[in-house]
Amino acid sequence: AAATSVNTTDFVGCLALHLPPGIVYTQSSESYPSVLEFSIKNLRFVTPATPTPLVIVKATHATHVRIAVRCGAAHGVRVRPRSGGHDYEGLSYRSLDAAHPFAIVDLAALRAIRVDVRSRSAWVESGATLGELYYGIANKSARLGFPAGVGPTVGVGGHFSGGGFGLMLRKYGLAADRVVDAVMVDAKGRLLDRAAMGEDHFWAIRGGGGGSFGIVVSWKLQLVRVPAIVTVFTVHRPRNQSASDLLTKWQNVAPALPRDMILRVVVQNQDAQFESLYLGRCAGVVATMTKMFPELGVTRRDCIEMSWIESVLYFAFYGTGKPKEMLLDRGTKPDRYFKGKSDFVHEPIPRDVWESTSSWFLEDGAGAYVNYKDLDLGVNEYGGDGAGASYETARVWGEAYFKDNFERLAAVKAMVDPADFFRNEQSIPPLPLPG
Ligand code: FDA
Repeated sequence: AAATSVNTTDFVGCLALHLPPGIVYTQSSESYPSVLEFSIKNLRFVTPATPTPLVIVKATHATHVRIAVRCGAAHGVRVRPRSGGHDYEGLSYRSLDAAHPFAIVDLAALRAIRVDVRSRSAWVESGATLGELYYGIANKSARLGFPAGVGPTVGVGGHFSGGGFGLMLRKYGLAADRVVDAVMVDAKGRLLDRAAMGEDHFWAIRGGGGGSFGIVVSWKLQLVRVPAIVTVFTVHRPRNQSASDLLTKWQNVAPALPRDMILRVVVQNQDAQFESLYLGRCAGVVATMTKMFPELGVTRRDCIEMSWIESVLYFAFYGTGKPKEMLLDRGTKPDRYFKGKSDFVHEPIPRDVWESTSSWFLEDGAGAYVNYKDLDLGVNEYGGDGAGASYETARVWGEAYFKDNFERLAAVKAMVDPADFFRNEQSIPPLPLPG
């Protein structure tokens, strides 16, 4: 496709003409800095050197998203969707390509949640947070839940786009596995549901990573049943020899536990913290742990029985008795610096490695998780001809995230966005035509 020449003045004019006043923020708008920083979570990207968007469109209706995409496509300005702003590399609001201005379509105000208890389903808009979603479900039924991530301020839009896992993973899989329909704006500015986008496109938006296949406005979810009472426990073991034994054994025990139970470990400094959610009562926890992992020494006294929504609060804020409304707090200021690395471990880590420092991370052939984005794996490269990103270059990081599915994702990209309008430093490139 021929490159559209960039005309930022016409782009801003197009937005001003077609969008209501008050939702377009240019760099000269007084509230531009606060609107930009509202959902930035990582202080690494709040520096004078971080390239900022030309414009932020704070959509309050799907039509606004369509208009932003159409104006962008017509005047050569790319738009990046932002839902919860939790991207590990800040790709929803910053660009490494200083030569090309870009805009943000911010979906934070598009956050309605409609739960239908009878059909055990819900429609949720992309700008809702996981905390808002869990709160909305629990307000309608104490016996329904949803298997997504732990962080309550994470945005639905980016999270579902990249898979999304939490403490019900073992029983119910990823958040994206429970998406049964979606409404999105494609590169032509059309509003498409599952039937209109087709199954390949629908497959790609559920795990292929955000920012490549269009802007998803809302998602239809199949909710899952949760028992009236679930059980949690957290036990700390000092990081000495016996903790190394526990960690070594945990690797074999955790995948073999009944699927109603997850046992995860957070190792920090000199502390190994074993945390568990069980979709049942304490008696079940004690029986299972006594049989399968007696060395951990979990007893009745470690159990806390509670409702599922209380367990969400427990793991989000570490403690009991917190008000449910804490799940609605989106936070307003970036509060920490972080850099994430992920790895998919195929073989148990040997005991002596647990005893050393964590140098086992990031060996060749590692499998990374696209929702824990890591630009150290590589970034897209573009030729000077206005064409899409290089497929060959992108394979390095693309196959670390997606293995063999990377090629299929690139084929979908070539089909739905051949001009590579929706792009970022690690977006899926269009698969080149054969020959
Ligand atoms: P953000 O708005 O930054 O978007 C992320 C990417 O998706 C960007 O490329 C963006 O352009 C694109 N995008 C955003 N909205 C889109 C839309 N509507 N349509 C299409 N593309 C869109 N993960 C996990 O699996 N389990 C967990 O428990 C946690 N916990 C957690 C806690 C904290 C504190 C952080 C910072 C992150 C996590 N994560 C996580 C990772 C999280 O799932 C990941 O960062 C998500 O992509 C964040 O989604 P947001 O909408 O918040 O991000």
